[in-house]
Amino acid sequence: MHDQLKPIQIGTHIFPSNAFLAPLSGITDKSFRTIAARYGAGMVVSEMIASAALTNGHADMARRLGRPERLPNIIQLAGCEGRWMAEGAKIAEDSGADIIDINMGCPSKRVTNGYAGSALMRVPDKAQSLIESVLGATSLPVTLKMRLGWNDDCINSPEIAQDAAKAGIQMITIHGRTRQQFYKGAAKWSPVRDVVEAVDVPVVVNGDIVDIATAKRALELSGAAAVMIGRGAQGQPWLLGQVGAALHGNPVPATPALKERQNLMKEHYSLMMEEYGTALGVRCARKHLGWYMDVLALEFTIPKAARAALLTQGNALQVPALIDQLFDQLVEVAA
Ligand SMILES: Cc1cc2nc3c(=O)[nH]c(=O)nc-3n(C[C@H](O)[C@H](O)[C@H](O)COP(=O)(O)O)c2cc1C
Repeated sequence: MHDQLKPIQIGTHIFPSNAFLAPLSGITDKSFRTIAARYGAGMVVSEMIASAALTNGHADMARRLGRPERLPNIIQLAGCEGRWMAEGAKIAEDSGADIIDINMGCPSKRVTNGYAGSALMRVPDKAQSLIESVLGATSLPVTLKMRLGWNDDCINSPEIAQDAAKAGIQMITIHGRTRQQFYKGAAKWSPVRDVVEAVDVPVVVNGDIVDIATAKRALELSGAAAVMIGRGAQGQPWLLGQVGAALHGNPVPATPALKERQNLMKEHYSLMMEEYGTALGVRCARKHLGWYMDVLALEFTIPKAARAALLTQGNALQVPALIDQLFDQLVEVAA
């Protein structure tokens, strides 16, 4: 079944595989999206951009508009007022974005208190008017990401999806949890099928997909057109290419050899210094360094001191040498 997956087309963009990188605030910046795209991600989405802050010229929101290499620039907007969302969409379009994605899945209290993110799912009329504001403000294709519903008594994603698709939304991603679950419990993939059956546009299944097996199972249970992977790609951006190849029935690329991972860590670091500047970049990059090491630690013992040195170094110029030293000290874990 999976090797018959159809390529997803949104507007004029045809995506190279059906394994997508999820938007993760603070993580899927331009640097990470560029690397994920190089390793075969079929689609990458920006970090959520608060539309009002973007309109007010907030520097970090403007940074989030950065274009990744190789793939279309999909800019995700969040907000609770149609006029800000419309304004944000125009700014994104003017900056060269290719597609706008609307965030209706974020459970954060800061976001939901203002009826943005997943809180919009409690007020479907407001959600619909916000969607229409964005569609009316831009000539770009618009997609939507949401959860199954607000809570177990309010699983309304099929209805919201239907209205959104009627209005012109071109793809819908469903994170298989409710807002009230936050990130707790397991994501449910079967209820996503109700959304698939409700609309004619492609539906993407998301939540707790971490490898080829879970990607296949999520597709089977949901009947979705593609999978979206977030946390599972942290420290291993090549996972998207591997999952995509497996779903399409192609040979699965090998996990990069150690030397390549060493170079990748250094390159990722240097891309982040460019994107953020070193003062902020040093701090933002630590989580990625930690995740790369967590993935390495599945196969190798990493001396505690080498790990700590890398995660506490405050001078960006010293970090590449520390990465080299770390790889020199790896000891293979006995099988
Ligand atoms: C740290 C973090 C940041 C996130 N930021 C966003 C975001 O900016 N926009 C969004 O739509 N979802 C965001 N999400 C939700 C993810 O896109 C995804 O729906 C969720 O993590 C489930 O997928 P996963 O299990 O593959 O990570 C975030 C999740 C996490 C853990």
